Order: sequence, then structure tokens, then C-alpha cells
Amino acid sequence: MRGSDIREVLTRLRGDDAISFAGGMPDPALLPVEAMREAHAAILGDPRLAATALQYSATAGHEPLRHWIAGHMARLGVPCDLDNVVITAGAQQALDLLARLFIAPGRRVLVQVPTYLGAVQAFDAHEPVYEGPGQMALAYAVPDFANPTGETMPEAARGKLLDAARAADAPLIEDAAYQGLRFEGQPEPSCLSLDIRREGSIDHSRVIYCGSFSKVLAPGLRLGWICAARELVRKVVLAKQAADLHVPTLSQMVMHRVAERHHATQIARSVATYVRRRDAMLRALARHMPEGVVWTRPQGGMFVWVTLPSGMDVTELLAQALEAGVAFVPGRGFFTDGSGGNTLRLSYALPSESRIETGIARLGALVSRLATPRAALSAG
Ligand SMILES: Cc1ncc(COP(=O)(O)O)c(C=O)c1O
Repeated sequence: MRGSDIREVLTRLRGDDAISFAGGMPDPALLPVEAMREAHAAILGDPRLAATALQYSATAGHEPLRHWIAGHMARLGVPCDLDNVVITAGAQQALDLLARLFIAPGRRVLVQVPTYLGAVQAFDAHEPVYEGPGQMALAYAVPDFANPTGETMPEAARGKLLDAARAADAPLIEDAAYQGLRFEGQPEPSCLSLDIRREGSIDHSRVIYCGSFSKVLAPGLRLGWICAARELVRKVVLAKQAADLHVPTLSQMVMHRVAERHHATQIARSVATYVRRRDAMLRALARHMPEGVVWTRPQGGMFVWVTLPSGMDVTELLAQALEAGVAFVPGRGFFTDGSGGNTLRLSYALPSESRIETGIARLGALVSRLATPRAALSAG
């Protein structure tokens, strides 16, 4: 198993003036602190609710929260009921439980290249292969505003992915951690909704949708869900029972109360902030990056993916950037084939627009110098 490069980078960032484009976390200023305080007080202030909140509860999750999720999924074009939903400790636990259910050593896992490092960490514990002819155990994709590229998969590509999963008779994990954070353009149909159209019902679908409350409500509460065929959900519930019995009851009750009242406004608030930061980052990249550097233009989510001219390696750039008080995540860790040495992931979620401009200006100057070392030398 490999550790996370991201934590490593953050521990090396120095200086009071440091600017981090490294973490993929929401801006804490956007988290609904007052709503969370009110929900905790309301639940713990009511003796009947408090007794429930502090007690063991069902592995599949707090029913009212599962009900809210089923309604949310219906609004996304996925008709389903309670038996199609299980609450997990974030989307990350969903990935871990699914890896336990489906992957055996030597079986093949189909992923996007590059892909989300946390998924690879969950899968690697079960020793899959990512290349070659092995029997496919599962396919995994982040179709909306992917981590790390920020890109969105068009509907036709989603259809092809479903075809590949069907040809291999393998499940397809649809990681929708960022799906709610769309800034512009028409939403693409989820892979799950496309498969339901093909198969007639969620209970005949091979798509396992992993949702998360982390990016708009509170990553600290560790709450996400799986929405899938009831037969699959039943197996996940058994795996989860063995892992940790259930997600903390109080957290689920709090999340239910907050999601019911504030989910839509939280999405709107987050989108309004992140779109301005994305625009600031795209403007700054255009202004400060030398010719030959290219980057993605995300329609949502938190990341811009930058590719330097081939042959350049970001290892030296990262060392110099950290000295200059700027952090980013080197792209190589997101590749399952060891490539990607000239790529980097930038998150615009945390710094203000002016800090983004300052940080990208610093980074652009370093890239320019590394891209043309001779010119820089002769210029003194
Ligand atoms: C693509 C993707 N999936 C899943 C997760 C994990 O999210 P959660 O906090 O819901 O476990 C993340 C977190 O960064 C992510 O980027």
C-alpha cells in the first residue's frame, strides 16, 4: 500500500505566507456551523431523541436519513426505495467495503488514468492488477468533476463504460463525491440512471453509486452512502456490520436534520464561491504559465489538472514551490501505471481569489525558469 502524497506535501509547506493548492477539502468558512450546532442541541435537548442518538442503531443507517437520500436520488433520475440505500462512513468506506466484496488478488480493476488516489488505496489492499488480460473484478469511475483532473465524462463515454462493464459482467462503481458541485452547463445523467433506463429498474442495474455529504455539508461527520440494487446493498450491509456495526447514530440524525433544511442552500453557497475561485485560477494560469503548459477547465468540483511539456518532471518544481510557499500535489501518485511525472493537481477550493493569483504567479515563474533553464541563466 502507498501512503498519500498529499499529506506529505502539506507537512513540508513552510512560511506564514504559504498558499496551498494541495488539499481537496471544502473551505471551512462554507461549512454550516450554526445549523450543525442547532441540530446537535435539538437532538440532545430532547430526551427521546437523545436516547436514540446515543444508542446502537441499524447497520443500513438511520431510516429518516436513508429516506432523504432516496428522495435525493429520485431527484437525480434514480427511482429507488429504502432497501436500495446504505449509509457509509463517507464515500471512502463505500470504496473499501466494495473492494472487500469484489476484488481478489490478480483480478483486474478498470480505472480512469489518472484516478482518485483513495480508491486505489482501498483497492490495492486486495492486490488487483490494473493492466492486462485478467478477469475484470470491477470498473471504477468518477464521472463528474473527477479527482484529480476536474473533467466530466460525456454521456456517450458513460454509455461505453457501461458497455465495458456489461461485457465483463462486472459491477461499475460510480463515485459521485463532487456531483452536486456543478457551476455551469447541463448535468450529465448519472451512470446509474443510464443503466436503469437500459435495465428497467435499479434492482437489475450493475452500477453502484457512491454519494457523499463531505464536499458540501461536513467531511468531519464522515457520512456518505451507496445507492444500488437491493441484493448488492444487502451484501454491503453484512460487510459493514463486520467492519463497524454502523455510522455513529448522532451524526446521522444531525446530518438528516441539516440536509433536510440546508442541503440546497449549501450547494448554492459552495458553488457561488468555488466558481469565482475556479475563474481566478484559470485567469491566473493563462496569465502566468509559459507556452507549452496546458490545463483542464472544470465545470464543477475543486480541481484543475496541469500538464507541463513532456520531459519535464514536477519533483524539482515541487521542491522549489514549497520553498516559495506554494503547495500542489504531484500528479504521478494518481497514475496506476507510474506515468504522469509532468502533471500536477491544483485545488482552488481553499485560497481566496487574490491568494490564487499570487500563488499561481509564483508557480508560473518557477515553471518558466525550469522550462527554459538556459535562458534563465543567461538572463542572470
Ligand atoms: C473522488 C473522491 N471519492 C471519494 C472521496 C472520499 O470522500 P468521503 O469524505 O465521502 O469519504 C474523495 C475525497 O476526497 C474523492 O475525492
